Formats: sequence, C-alpha cells, structure tokens
Amino acid sequence: TPSFSDYLREHIRTVPDWPAPGVQFRDITPLLQDPKVFRILIDAFVHRYMDHDRRPDVVAGLDARGFILGAVVAYELGVGFVPIRKKGKLPFTTVEETYELEYGSATVELHTDSVHAGSRVLLMDDLIATGGTMMAGKKLLEKLGAQVVEGASIVDLPELGGSTRLRAAGLDLYTLVDFA
Ligand code: PRP
Ligand code: HPA
Repeated sequence: TPSFSDYLREHIRTVPDWPAPGVQFRDITPLLQDPKVFRILIDAFVHRYMDHDRRPDVVAGLDARGFILGAVVAYELGVGFVPIRKKGKLPFTTVEETYELEYGSATVELHTDSVHAGSRVLLMDDLIATGGTMMAGKKLLEKLGAQVVEGASIVDLPELGGSTRLRAAGLDLYTLVDFA
C-alpha cells in the first residue's frame, strides 16, 4: 500500500536542468494547487506541532516557499509568523547571515525585533538540499536568543548531505518526502 510519503511524492514535479544544467528541480507547486493535497500536507505539520511538547511560540519561514507553508501552519497553530528574507527586502533593522547554496550563494536577513530571547521557534521551508538555507535561518534566530525547536520541510534530498549536517549541528528535523 502506498504510504503518505508516496502520495505526496506523486504530487511533486521534477523539472530537469532547472535552474541550472544537472539540477533535478523538485517543484512543490502541484501540492499547493490541489486543495485536497494542500490540506493533507498542512494538516501533517499542524498535527505534529499542535502536540503540547512541540508547540512553538512562533513559526519562522524561509524565503520564498517557506512563507507559504509557515504562514498557514502558524495560523492554524494560533501563533505568529516571521519571515526570513533574501537580503535587501526587510525594511527595519536586521541581523544577516551569508551561506553557500547548491547553486550560488545567498544572504538572508531577519528583523531584530521578530522574536524574543528564549522563544521556541519552528523553522519551515519546502526543501532541504545542502542545508545551507536552514542552517542560516537557525543562526539568525539564535543571534536573537531564540531556540529553534525543530526544522520542518516537505522534501529532503539526503544525498546532498544537508539533513545530516543540520542534525549534526543539533537541529531536530521533520521532513515528509525523500528524493534520492
Ligand atoms: C531553495 C529551497 C530552499 C533552499 C534549499 O530556495 O526552497 O529554500 O533552496 O537549498 P539548501 O538546502 O541547499 O540551502 P531557492 O534558493 O531556490 O530560493 P527561492 O525560494 O527564492 O526560490
Ligand atoms: N527544489 C527546490 N529548491 C531547491 C532544489 C529543488 O530541487 N534544490 C535546491 N533548492
């Protein structure tokens, strides 16, 4: 019998050679587009983080697809949402972190007043590849004294080593689908 992972995997599109030759891009937009699949996907996260031991004080979402997931999960949990954005987009004072991507490099920023010291944060994105983006998000939240209780994403690409690196750095991770 097909598992929940298999069900989600069927609704993720693979685009070869995008955005660069040799990259097999795992496109989650079909998951969001189908209302039934979208609800089941969000409910998987909501059920996990409604649990009183895991319930965060706030959800942080990584630019850009982490905004879509994180905002909906935060709304359902009844907690606030904070965006971690690509450099140059946030208007107020920020902390920033630069990191290497599977393709290129990036700097992300977080508003300095976005979380309180000691806050328990759920950090969300759509996918973990090298883990650089989520690691940068964790560092930004920790610069403000917050504690990242878990990182969550739909997809993990385990062969790129990101999830292993993140766990080795002490981040608990929850992912729903692996692509080899
Ligand atoms: C993708 C993806 C994650 C990140 C994962 O975003 O949505 O945020 O890369 O890669 P990593 O684990 O190697 O850091 P992308 O950089 O394509 O930006 P976008 O959301 O603006 O499209
Ligand atoms: N999909 C989405 N984002 C990504 C991917 C991918 O396959 N690889 C690195 N970032």
